[in-house]
Amino acid sequence: MNKDLLGFAGMTPADFQTIWRRAARLKQLLKEGRDHASLKGKTLGMIFDKSSTRTRISFEVGMYQLGGIALFLNSRDTQIGRGETLADSARMMSCYLNGIMIRTFAQESVEELARYAAIPVINGLTDLLHPCQILADLFTIQEKKGSYEGVRVAYIGDGNNVANSWIEAATHLPFELALACPEGYDPDARILAAAGGVKLCRDPFEAARNADVLYTDVWTSMGQEAESQERMKIFKNYQINQALLEAAKKDAIVMHCLPAHRGEEITADVIDGPQSVVVEEAENRLHVQKAVLEILL
Ligand code: CP
Ligand code: NVA
Repeated sequence: MNKDLLGFAGMTPADFQTIWRRAARLKQLLKEGRDHASLKGKTLGMIFDKSSTRTRISFEVGMYQLGGIALFLNSRDTQIGRGETLADSARMMSCYLNGIMIRTFAQESVEELARYAAIPVINGLTDLLHPCQILADLFTIQEKKGSYEGVRVAYIGDGNNVANSWIEAATHLPFELALACPEGYDPDARILAAAGGVKLCRDPFEAARNADVLYTDVWTSMGQEAESQERMKIFKNYQINQALLEAAKKDAIVMHCLPAHRGEEITADVIDGPQSVVVEEAENRLHVQKAVLEILL
């Protein structure tokens, strides 16, 4: 394992398996009400430059369940918001904390923080990547389908941070990934180029055909709010609805990282329907991140 979790670069299939094996065990221990306080006395700093429900709660509760604590650090209220350099912040924080989770805009900021921090840094979402989400998603797929091997994942919508992390995962692990994105909204070109077998198309039905997993995310990500009206028009055919679900395998599962906009990227009947696993997917953020925290801290 790397010192940090900034994305999936440098991770081996065995690293993924180590995280998921431990996540499964931690999930079981929690359900059985058994003690698993392996991080007693440890502290995680959580820097947020963007909103969050799941990431904040799951990391904070996860640290608590592991016997440690988490500090919520809104960057507006710290000296980072007043221009203290990331390098200095990283050095100081390394004296007090055992790990940092950061959600921010530029991937470069997370990388800079990690470069100067003596402690592990975990990417809790940037404009480029959302690795913790896809770790939980693939864990959920393993639970539902027995394995991710050979599973066909169809990602419908914006070539955003979540899409990029899906592609990064597909470069390391043997599952099939097809993305349908409108022209001009493709995933990151470098990440896509590094991934051999990933398919990118314009037609959502082409991507969804025979899929085991239908996946989508919002049309407008955090930081893109000014483009929202324009995106509504451009993405209108990139919706997971009953018709698209019928193009997938009969037993396909529907996933969404959440938060969702019903009637936009996904219809209410599908996200709230029997094939949707979005609630368990969100729950698994907790178990998988606890495993990551244990391993890195
Ligand atoms: N999926 C996800 O990261 O949710 P939050 O933005 O609520 O953390
Ligand atoms: N792509 C979304 C994911 C939210 C969890 C965003 O960046 O806002």
